[in-house]
Amino acid sequence: MKILVVGNGGREHALAWKIGQSPSAERVFVAPGNAGTASDAENVAIPATDIPALVKFARQNQIDFTVVGPEAALAVGIVDALQSEGLKAFGPSRAASDLETSKVFCKNLLRHADVPTADYRVFRDAKAAITFLKDRDDTPVVVKADGLAAGKGVVVCDNRDQALAAVERIAVLKEFGDAGNQLVIEERLHGQEASVLALTDGHTLLTMPACQDHKRAHDGDTGPNTGGMGAYCPTPLVTDQLLQKVEEKILVPTVHQMKRSRRPFRGVLYAGLMITSQGVKVLEYNVRFGDPECQPLIMRLKGDLVELLDATADGRLDEIAPPEWDPRPAVCVVMASEGYPGKFERGQPIRGLDDAAKLPDVKVFHAGTALREGQVVTDGGRVLGVTALGTSISAAKLQAYTAVKNIRFSGAWCRKDISDKALSYK
Ligand code: AMP
Ligand code: GLY
Repeated sequence: MKILVVGNGGREHALAWKIGQSPSAERVFVAPGNAGTASDAENVAIPATDIPALVKFARQNQIDFTVVGPEAALAVGIVDALQSEGLKAFGPSRAASDLETSKVFCKNLLRHADVPTADYRVFRDAKAAITFLKDRDDTPVVVKADGLAAGKGVVVCDNRDQALAAVERIAVLKEFGDAGNQLVIEERLHGQEASVLALTDGHTLLTMPACQDHKRAHDGDTGPNTGGMGAYCPTPLVTDQLLQKVEEKILVPTVHQMKRSRRPFRGVLYAGLMITSQGVKVLEYNVRFGDPECQPLIMRLKGDLVELLDATADGRLDEIAPPEWDPRPAVCVVMASEGYPGKFERGQPIRGLDDAAKLPDVKVFHAGTALREGQVVTDGGRVLGVTALGTSISAAKLQAYTAVKNIRFSGAWCRKDISDKALSYK
């Protein structure tokens, strides 16, 4: 098979690397890819959201299967466009992607499916939202822009003044453009967060081991929100019993409700969960692999990723054996550019990648990297996802940080406590 992976992050490097190991993968392309995918696959210089160019490439190069990484491509209908040309693709349709691209759609669907989530109200204008906030008790809320806002459209508030300020930014100043045309105001939940991802073809569900992301920039979950500074898998926060509950009470009813809403879901369903004292609740859905959660998951996956994704896209997940997972945990530490998640510079040469690659049970997934005259340089905020397996979470952590120590670029930094939370759940 000729396979095209769409995207350019650490997630896509992990997918392309694993896809390349499949006996059925003849050639693997990544559009647009990064310096890491250039060595594990073949890069194609087409942006992930340039649908006409991607469809043309897939047609002209007889691509058998396209695997879509980022939500931005799904949100503009890449899967529908490929399928209308008779080309096979992994990922949900544009309509089904609303589960991630519209918080209003997601919350209403959860309510109809009776899936536990924070209580909420939807507002179409700032005035109604302001009146609502002023009329209720001053308990903490979360204010969310309806649409995609690069992870910045969610404001967790301590009090009414912060909530009013968030409404102003989203719905009056329109800081996130049309994404702020509707607002969700919801009850603020407290607890620990986990990510549970499942493959589904709309009928069968294959729940993967639970992961934990580290969204804040600094140690101890402090500092600004980021795309994710590291992740590990499995997390002891989600016991087998809890994972089964998530499947039964959350994932299965969601897939059914999507079908009833005439938006059958095929692809990877990613539940962002909060484990509260009242039980587990959905914070959000994503309709793609998480980044960086994908990296430790893929590191642990044994067997053939192409077979899994292909069966999902074909609607025959029930026909294949569930995959085996390496019993060893995996930890992924993100190395970032100076200034991230704020402004940062690109083009810093990266050294030591070969030394890191020589360490056993380590894979360095590239995210924001590029090749400049044969040299790997930084080209993004999150630069690398240094991932390792170990006999325990602590051993995997140690091995990942040993690899990190081998890698150098000007301004490089990372969190030092990725996976430490796991120790507190035991
Ligand atoms: P979301 O994009 O909806 O997952 O929100 C991003 C982050 O905001 C989540 O990972 C949580 O840390 C936080 N968050 C979202 N909704 C809530 C909520 N209802 N209560 C507390 N924190 C939340
Ligand atoms: N790790 C968070 C996300 O992929 O959205």
